[in-house]
Amino acid sequence: MPNVTVMFANTKGGVGKSTLAYLTAIFLAATERARIVAADLDPQKSMFNALLRFQSEALHAEDWSESFAGVPIERGRLRNAVNEAKVSSDILLIDTPAGFAATELFTFMRPDIIVVPVTASDADIFTTKKYLDDMTHTLGEMAAEVGGVMPQILVIPNQVYDADCVSRVRDSLRGLRVQIGRPLPHALEFREIFRYTRGDTNVGRVVRRESKFFNWLGERIMGRLQSNSLETEGRR
Ligand SMILES: Nc1ncnc2c1ncn2[C@@H]1O[C@H](COP(=O)(O)OP(=O)(O)O)[C@@H](O)[C@H]1O
Ligand SMILES: [Mg+2]
Repeated sequence: MPNVTVMFANTKGGVGKSTLAYLTAIFLAATERARIVAADLDPQKSMFNALLRFQSEALHAEDWSESFAGVPIERGRLRNAVNEAKVSSDILLIDTPAGFAATELFTFMRPDIIVVPVTASDADIFTTKKYLDDMTHTLGEMAAEVGGVMPQILVIPNQVYDADCVSRVRDSLRGLRVQIGRPLPHALEFREIFRYTRGDTNVGRVVRRESKFFNWLGERIMGRLQSNSLETEGRR
């Protein structure tokens, strides 16, 4: 079965990995006829916990933090979880914790798309640049060794105030083999989506307000799913 696997990664914390993984899962579940698995590697489980109330036939949240716990202590278990999720889903979204390079997991997670949010703050940009340098290097080596298509790396300027923020991200990452995606604005609404209080509609409001962004990202993900399907058919 074809599948598309999207990792949300950045060693820097607080850049928006969980926010983006969470909202992307909800957006895709609402707009696509696809089976979605959203898996959380972060021991804080903010995405997993917040997604529980949105679970449906189409959207399944998984907690992978125990087989991960900061280092992939149970590689075998994690590997099995990844393989099972790839088989049982059309779209697999993986949220990863901060302080962790994620590159060591690439070999068996085999991401098609890596979404790397970053803010325009100097500290974030500096750490992210180094991270992307390492990541593109590792992926290049992997592609040379085992072949296959390089994952698409989408850098998302997040918590953006003005066009200058986007330019700073773009300029600092020039020369890296990454794509700078659509930016997301800084908005207080993003801070009120993880904790549900009865009757609030914060999540829906944010996704609707940023529908251009989520449509754009959704198109990229669905496009990759389609090309993976064609490839599977071609091999038959
Ligand atoms: N576009 C945004 N505007 C305002 N706050 C944001 C935005 N994106 C994320 N945040 C807030 O920033 C903090 C870190 O986001 P989070 O998704 O947890 O980052 P990470 O998973 O990378 O550590 C959270 O409090 C979140 O609500
Ligand atoms: Mg997080």
